[in-house]
Amino acid sequence: MSRKLIIGSSGQIGTELVIELRKIHGSDNIIAADIRKPIDEVLFGGPFEEINVLDKARIKEVILKYKIDEVYILAALLSATAEKKPDLAWKLNMEGLFNVLDLAKEKVINKIFWPSSIAVFGPSTPNRNTPQQTIMEPTTVYGISKLAGERWCEYYYNKFGIDVRSIRYPGLISYKSLPGGGTTDYAIEIFHHAIKHKNYVCFLEKNMGLPMMYMDDAIRATIELMNADVSKISVRCSYNISGLSFSPFEIAEQIKKVIPEFDVSYNPDFRNEIAKSWPSQINDQVARKDWRWKPNVDLEQMTEIMLKQLKVVLV
Ligand code: SER
Repeated sequence: MSRKLIIGSSGQIGTELVIELRKIHGSDNIIAADIRKPIDEVLFGGPFEEINVLDKARIKEVILKYKIDEVYILAALLSATAEKKPDLAWKLNMEGLFNVLDLAKEKVINKIFWPSSIAVFGPSTPNRNTPQQTIMEPTTVYGISKLAGERWCEYYYNKFGIDVRSIRYPGLISYKSLPGGGTTDYAIEIFHHAIKHKNYVCFLEKNMGLPMMYMDDAIRATIELMNADVSKISVRCSYNISGLSFSPFEIAEQIKKVIPEFDVSYNPDFRNEIAKSWPSQINDQVARKDWRWKPNVDLEQMTEIMLKQLKVVLV
C-alpha cells in the first residue's frame, strides 16, 4: 500500500488535498504534516505529525515511521509575504524542495509533488494565452524561487530519474481554509467581506485580470497528474493549467447578482505591482493533451458555491 505524506497540511491547498486523498485512499494512508495545527477535520480525520520542512531528519523519520512512498511539498511562503521576507522565502521555498528531492535521490521515497505557480512568469511574458514554454523573467522573490525550483525538479528527473511532478497553480479560490500572503488572496477576501460587511476595499486595481481556479478543480488536477501513467508526463518542470480568468471588477459583478447592495472600491498597494507582472490568462494545451486535464467549474458556479458555503460558516 502506497502511503502519502502531505507537508503543509494546514495551508489552503494542503487542507483540501488531505481531505480528498483520505476519501480516496483511506485515512490511515494519508499522513498530514505541518508546523501549525490543522483544522479539526484534518487533525482528527487521520494521522498528523508536526514537521518543519527545513528539518530533513524529521521528514525522514516520519517517512520511515509510516513507510511513506510519496511526498507532497506544500509548505511555502507566497508572493506578498515573500516580498516582505525575501531571505526566509528563498530558504523555505528552496531548502524544503531540496530536502525532499534528496530523500528521493537516496531512495527513501519514490514520487514527489511540488507546486509551482503562475508567478514564474514575468512582465516580458505574453500576457494572454501564455504558452507552456515561453519567456520567463519573474520579478518577484516568490516567482524567482518557483522558477528555480522548476529547473531543479527537471534536473533531478533528468539526472537521477526522480519522478517529480508539478503544476503551475493559478490563484486558488476556496472556503475551507484561508490563503496566506498571496497576491490572489483578494479573490477570497472579497467573498468574506461581501457576506460580512457588504463592502470591500480591493488591494488590486479594478481591471487587473489574473488566472484563477476553484479549489476542487485544482485538487482534481493534482490527483490526476499524480495518477497519470509515467509515459504521459512530458513536462518535468511544471504544467500550465488554466481554469478561470477574471478581474476584481468582474468577480464583484458576479457577487452583486446575489448581493445587489455589495459595494467595492479600489486602493491598490504593492500587490498590484506583483499582479501586473503576471499573465492574465494562460494556455494549458500541453496538460490537456498529456493527461487530459480539463477544468469543470466556471465563474458563475464558483461564485454560487462560495457565497452559499461561506454564509454557513460566517453568518
Ligand atoms: N496565489 C499565489 C500568490 O498570489 C500565486 O501562486 O502568491
